[in-house]
Amino acid sequence: AGTGKFFVGGNWKCNGTKDSISKLVSDLNGATLEPDVDVVVAPPFVYIDQVKNSLTPRIEIASQNSWTGKGGAFTGEISVEQLKDIGCKWVILGHSERRHVIGEDDQFIGKKAAYALSEGLGVIACIGELLQEREAGKTFDVCFQQLKAYADAVPSWDNIVIAYEPVWAIGTGKVATPQQAQEVHLACRDWLKKNVSAEVASKTRIIYGGSVNGGNCAELAKQEDIDGFLVGGASLKGPEFATIVNSVT
Ligand code: G3P
Repeated sequence: AGTGKFFVGGNWKCNGTKDSISKLVSDLNGATLEPDVDVVVAPPFVYIDQVKNSLTPRIEIASQNSWTGKGGAFTGEISVEQLKDIGCKWVILGHSERRHVIGEDDQFIGKKAAYALSEGLGVIACIGELLQEREAGKTFDVCFQQLKAYADAVPSWDNIVIAYEPVWAIGTGKVATPQQAQEVHLACRDWLKKNVSAEVASKTRIIYGGSVNGGNCAELAKQEDIDGFLVGGASLKGPEFATIVNSVT
């Protein structure tokens, strides 16, 4: 971990029921969490209110998406204003499932990020390469292009956490090695230094996501440029998520 405050997010994706979420919340409420770590969970939209009303305020709430602007005639969308109204502090944007399953592009994601920030939400800005892009030696190019799209859209990096999630590592059980992750995190920090500013490069937290679990988190957390995690599957288990939160040393 670097010098910034460690940040661990749990992305629950499209999982859970009222009952399973109530059990997860009670496990999280009972867990001992290192005080010096920012902890955030992202429930499915329909359960955010339930979680907000039952989860310890020690853990903040993120949504898994938001609309590009003010609400209105946009069937099926959720506005940033509505998310704030029910107590969200963060939004996850640019997740690979939204890019590659739903088809969101860089420009659309940048627009969402800019709007969410302008309304005071923190943005967990995801980036990451596909397996074929890594194999073709394009990992840095892809990550830099995705970073540039955010940089072109946002007025400030104060409220952004970057999540590097190599797509081949997401939900596959195939975690990036600590060296693989560190290499990309460092390259992204250098990119920020050259293209945004030295201050933003040193202050912005870059977290890793992709098959993080209770067993591999400690080695990853030792890397200098890994400032936390974005956790999918393992965030659905309260005690294991707590282990990941507490992996910072
Ligand atoms: O956003 C977190 C994520 O995409 C990683 O998922 O299940 O591989 O931890 P998972």
